[in-house]
Amino acid sequence: MLTDDFPRVDLAHTPTPLEPMGNLSTELGGPEIWIKRDDCTGLAMGGNKARQLEFYIGDALAQGADTLLTTGAVQSNHVRMTVAAACKLGLQCEVQLEERVPGRAPEYYNSGNPFLVRLFGVPIHRYTEGEDEEGADRALYERAAELKAESRKPYVIPLAPGHKPLGALGYVKAAEELLAQARTLEIAIDAVILPSGSGSTHAGMLAGLRALGSQARVYGFCVRRHKEAQAERVAKRLIEVARMIGAEGAVGDEDVWVDDSTLGPGYGQLTEGVVEAIGLAARQDGILLDPTYTGKSMAGLIGLVRSGELGPGARAVFLHTGGTPALFGYPELVAEGEGKA
Ligand SMILES: Cc1ncc(COP(=O)(O)O)c(C=O)c1O
Repeated sequence: MLTDDFPRVDLAHTPTPLEPMGNLSTELGGPEIWIKRDDCTGLAMGGNKARQLEFYIGDALAQGADTLLTTGAVQSNHVRMTVAAACKLGLQCEVQLEERVPGRAPEYYNSGNPFLVRLFGVPIHRYTEGEDEEGADRALYERAAELKAESRKPYVIPLAPGHKPLGALGYVKAAEELLAQARTLEIAIDAVILPSGSGSTHAGMLAGLRALGSQARVYGFCVRRHKEAQAERVAKRLIEVARMIGAEGAVGDEDVWVDDSTLGPGYGQLTEGVVEAIGLAARQDGILLDPTYTGKSMAGLIGLVRSGELGPGARAVFLHTGGTPALFGYPELVAEGEGKA
């Protein structure tokens, strides 16, 4: 396995199912759409972060850490799952929630992920500036210094690039798993569609696929920043992770495909396309997406089909990266009067 040299702790339920989205495929009339259910990784309601945390926390334990520190938006799935992992492993944990999405209703602050984080009972710090990744990380390191002074052994899981992309290794491993499933099912995969945020999922999946000889195109849909900045970030991450697994020769900038046409006004903000995508996945195949990540990547997939980029005869895998608890922070997703008999 490509990631065997790195410390890892078991957190994710794997392999996650790979199953057809039969009704959506028929409805859209384009490629055969399959869904890789990384919303089913377990760990307090699942999601892609379980795979990434296996390597961060593996590293933390190897260093003798006793306390995890991390940061994210108020509805961060990463924060929820980090806290859950800390509880499971008997580690202490402190988290920081950033004010990233303006103008949200009270449910955004009280329901879904922040509700679950409170249930785990860990200290929550607030960070009012949501668009300052480096600043958010600095605040974590300052808190870590205070904990060290109390003889604790803190481990920071940072947000900004500039640290070793350990989380991406989780998606190198996921790429191995996906290709093994495709072999068993005797199907070829032409495309993988995923949300691109910190870029760890995107870079890891790409590096893993290319390292194993798959040329499937990976379509990354921006969820936080515009495509120029995201492409640059993913390209850097891709080289770093490819180097870590000894596959530098297998990847290049030309592998990085990003699109920001479904980003809308910004991170965590709904668009008509996202509302349509969430409704279609639910009503066609009983799949729950989320407003911040998979709603945007599904809107992206629908766009690829409608533009003819992905047509009949192709086989596309939609990577469901989770995030569903955040649905409860967006009550406007269900129209007034919906469900009245
Ligand atoms: C549900 C979900 N999908 C996708 C992403 C983006 O993944 P990455 O940060 O690896 O780009 C996140 C990140 O927070 C997430 O919570």
